[in-house]
Amino acid sequence: MRARIVPGAVIEGIVGVPGDKSIAHRWLMLAATARGRSRLTNLPVALDVASTARCLAGVTLKARPPLEAWADKVSRSAERHGFTWDVRFAGIDADTDGAEVEVEGEGRRGLVAPHRELDCGNSGTTMRLLVGLLAAVPGPFVLTGDASLRSRPMERVAEPLTAMGAEVATTEGHAPVRIAGGPLRGIEFTTPTPSAQVKGAVLLAGTVAEGRTTVVERTVTRDHTERALAALGAPVAVADGRVEVSSFQHPGFDGAVPGDPSSSAFVLAAAALTGGGVVVRDVGVNPTRLGFVDVMRRMGLDVSVRAVERRVGEPVGEIELAPGGDLVGTTVEPMELPLVIDEVPVLAALATHARGETWFAGAGELRVKESDRLSALVSVVRGLGGQAAVEGDDLVVVGGGLRGGRAASGGDHRIAMAAAVAALAAEAACEVVGIEDAAVSFPGFAGVLATLGARIEEVA
Ligand code: S3P
Repeated sequence: MRARIVPGAVIEGIVGVPGDKSIAHRWLMLAATARGRSRLTNLPVALDVASTARCLAGVTLKARPPLEAWADKVSRSAERHGFTWDVRFAGIDADTDGAEVEVEGEGRRGLVAPHRELDCGNSGTTMRLLVGLLAAVPGPFVLTGDASLRSRPMERVAEPLTAMGAEVATTEGHAPVRIAGGPLRGIEFTTPTPSAQVKGAVLLAGTVAEGRTTVVERTVTRDHTERALAALGAPVAVADGRVEVSSFQHPGFDGAVPGDPSSSAFVLAAAALTGGGVVVRDVGVNPTRLGFVDVMRRMGLDVSVRAVERRVGEPVGEIELAPGGDLVGTTVEPMELPLVIDEVPVLAALATHARGETWFAGAGELRVKESDRLSALVSVVRGLGGQAAVEGDDLVVVGGGLRGGRAASGGDHRIAMAAAVAALAAEAACEVVGIEDAAVSFPGFAGVLATLGARIEEVA
């Protein structure tokens, strides 16, 4: 599916974005393994989260029917509405069909071996967290995914779980991943590459292991797993880059998933590039997700964040971009990168219109995301009539604007959205091929932009 974007419109308004994908994966896993009933609302009707629900349906008994029904509903919605364009799925309309699921968990020990392979689709978070969740369950389990996911590194999660006592075999470092779980013992593990997915997998395994499990991080990553576990009463201690957990069975819980700050970054950038102001409400404001706000401020934008409440340990509030500001290039240092890991595409979109160059230093990890995002971003920028290059592990985006042109998502949701946002301020109309990929994390993306004033339309 192609989108045509005609520049010149101002993007502004007050908006909600779909529920946070990272949090939804974790809360769904915790709900399915709780002892008792859980009710989750504002789940993003997004394909990645449906992958988690479908896999969990495969390893649960009582929770299976509602999880399966919810995942099927997401898939059907995707087919019926092509929901990149349908704002009903973007959290704007409170009556969003399918945003809620209620499950009866039978505890961590209640998981069963599935009758089939567990298909994680395009979702790395689903696969890596599931390795940790299933590591104590006899199985066997086979985790697989689409071609993109099968090319991504899985040894990084197999290694610590093997050290804890599970049998985890990758296929030459990749999926399919075969798991035969067993009794686990706690370990102290230092993540060699900063990864919230690997940390989360080890912590989830740690709640059924004997003794204490410690994850040591040299660079901070998103902390949704430890926040949720602590909010549910688990013995979690966090200090000086160390997260410790020990054996604990959590009860059922209710939670309204906060809006996804990563999705909000696209809306804020769209407004910034077109001279508009925007308020994103009911959005997660966890500091480990707001590295992009610091970068946007360094680039000259006036962004403010207000925390309003807490849900299952997560701060929730509003992010506002004031109109105006003169965009300038900046440097994102390697230490900062884990905190903006998913926002590099949208920050690169901003950088194409900034004064001067923007460097993302030591960004090699972006090569193993949903696509090789370093080369994908270079192609997008060049395709839209700008300049960018990869130098070693650094991405450099040359500012000064885009002439207009054509870019392709390469099957990657954030590349599709970054291209569309960059195009809003180009000199001439642009085409983005694969705009429907946005539905992996931001259903309703194109519809939301249109609602806020963008001239974006589907090309037959
Ligand atoms: C995620 C962690 C990050 C991020 C991904 C979601 C998570 O991946 O890029 O989109 O929910 O834990 P890594 O753990 O590979 O850095």
